[in-house]
Amino acid sequence: MPNAATLAFVPVTTPARDVLVVFCDDALAFGPATRKALGPARQQITRAVAAARFKGKGCAVLEILAPQGLRADRVVIVGTGKAAEVKEGDYIRFGGAALSRVPPSAKDVLIMAELPHAALKPAEVAQLAAGARLRAYSFDRYKTKKKEGEDKAVNANISVAVADVAAARRAYAAAGAVADGVLMTRELVNEPPNVLYPEEFARRATRLRRLRVRVDVLDVRAMTRLKMGALLGVGQGARHESRMVIMQWNGGRRGEAPLAFVGKGVCFDSGGISIKPAASMEEMKGDMAGAACVTGLMHALAARKAKINAIGVIGLVENMPDGNAQRPGDIVTSMSGQTIEIINTDAEGRLVLADALWYVAKKHKPKLIVDLATLTGAIMVALGQEYAGLFSNNDELAERLTEVGLATGEKLWRMPLGPEYDKQIDSKFADVKNTGGRNGGAITAAQFLQRFVDNLPWAHLDIAGTAMASPASDISRSWGSGFGVRLLDRLVADYYEK
Ligand code: BES
Ligand code: MN
Ligand code: ZN
Repeated sequence: MPNAATLAFVPVTTPARDVLVVFCDDALAFGPATRKALGPARQQITRAVAAARFKGKGCAVLEILAPQGLRADRVVIVGTGKAAEVKEGDYIRFGGAALSRVPPSAKDVLIMAELPHAALKPAEVAQLAAGARLRAYSFDRYKTKKKEGEDKAVNANISVAVADVAAARRAYAAAGAVADGVLMTRELVNEPPNVLYPEEFARRATRLRRLRVRVDVLDVRAMTRLKMGALLGVGQGARHESRMVIMQWNGGRRGEAPLAFVGKGVCFDSGGISIKPAASMEEMKGDMAGAACVTGLMHALAARKAKINAIGVIGLVENMPDGNAQRPGDIVTSMSGQTIEIINTDAEGRLVLADALWYVAKKHKPKLIVDLATLTGAIMVALGQEYAGLFSNNDELAERLTEVGLATGEKLWRMPLGPEYDKQIDSKFADVKNTGGRNGGAITAAQFLQRFVDNLPWAHLDIAGTAMASPASDISRSWGSGFGVRLLDRLVADYYEK
C-alpha cells in the first residue's frame, strides 16, 4: 500500500512516546482510561483548554506542547461534540481528526480510542482506526524536496489503544480492507497520465490476482473482435492503446448472478479533436476516477472476503487529438449494434461506458449494474462538490444508494431520467448522438447510458465533482478522494451479502 504509516492496536495502559491523542466531549470530560493516561498532566491540560476557549465541538482540535509529567511532547485533544449526538458516521472522522496535528518528525502516535461516556464498540474502534489510516495518506511520490508546512504523509507508527485488543483487530480486518481499497483508488487517481496510461492501469489491476480476484485484460484485438466500436473510437488517436479489464470476485454462492460495477477509465481526457481549453486541462488525469473506484472496491471486497459475487469492468482509454483521432461527424457502431453519431469528441466517457455496460449486461447477466464516471462538468454546475449525481431506472436501488450515501458521508443526490430527454440525443444520421446540448447536460449523458444497460436494474453515479480536485476533509488531504469505495462497499454489506 502507498504509505509507510503502520497501525496497531494496543492496551490502554500503553504509555505514549511522541504524540498522545485523546477525545473529550463538549462538557470537556475525558473517559476513565484517558484520565489515567493523562495522569498529572491533566491540570495543565484543563488550564490550556480554558485558556484556548476550546469547547470540544465535533472534530475540533487543540494541541498542547510539552505536557508536564508525560513522556509525550504533544497531547492532541479532539472534540466529539455532545456525547448523545455522536452518530455512526462520526467515528471515522474522529480518527481522521486525531492525525491532524502530527508533526512529520513524530515516530509514534498513540490514540486513546475512548469517548468520555461510552466504551467504543469494536466496529466503532475499527472505523476510527480506518479514519486515521485515510488521513495519514498523502501522495508525495514525486516530491524530491519536501517543504515545511506542506501536507505530508504521516509515516509514524500509529497505535490505537483499546480495552479489547483482539476484538478491535477482528473488526479492523474488514474496515482496514476497505480503507486499503480507498487508498488504492486515491493513488490511481493521483498518478500522472504519463505514468498511468491504459496498459499500466491494467497492469496494476492484475495485482488483485494476489487476493484471488480473477482478472482478465482485453486488448485492442479482443475488443475489435467483440465489435466495441464506441470505446475503440475514443482511443484511436492515442499512442497508448486502449484496454478493458474484467475483475471477478466470487465470494458468494456458485452460479448466483453477480453485482456489476462499471467504471469510466479515461486516463487522460484532452477532449480529442474537440480539444479542451488549456486552463486546468491537467486535471483530466483524474478522468479515470470511476475505473479507479471500481478497482479499489474490488480490492476491498476481496480483501475482506465479502460473501458476494461481484464483477468490476473498467474501460481504459486515452482521449487524444491526432491524425488518426475520431472526428465530429464520425458514426461508430457500438457492441450493442446501436450506431452513434459523434458530435463532440469530448463527450467520450459515455462512449467508453456504452460498450463496457453492454458487455457486462450481456455476458454476465448481473443482478444490477452501478457505473461510476467523471462524466460531465454539468453535474458540478448542478451539485457542486458535495453530492455526486445519482441516476437510476430502479427506485429501490436508488433509495439504497441514497441511504448508504448518508451513512458513509459519500452523499448522492438523485437526478431525473425520462423519455422526454431522448429527443435531445436523437441523431439525424445514426441511432443516437453523443451530446444533447447545454441544457441538462448531466441528464442527457445518463439518458444516453441507459440505452446500453439492456433494461437491467442500473444506477449511474456522476462523480465529476466528488472524485477529484477534492476539498480537504477530516479523512482526506488527497486530490483524489477515493469517492465511491466506502459507499459501494457499504451497499454490498448492508443489502446484498448473506
Ligand atoms: N471528463 C469530462 C467531464 C469533467 C469535467 C470531469 C470537469 C471532471 C471535471 C467529460 O469527458 C467531458 O468533457 N464532458 C463534457 C461533455 C460535453 C462535451 C457534452 C463537458 O462536461 O463539458
Ligand atoms: Mn471529455
Ligand atoms: Zn472525460
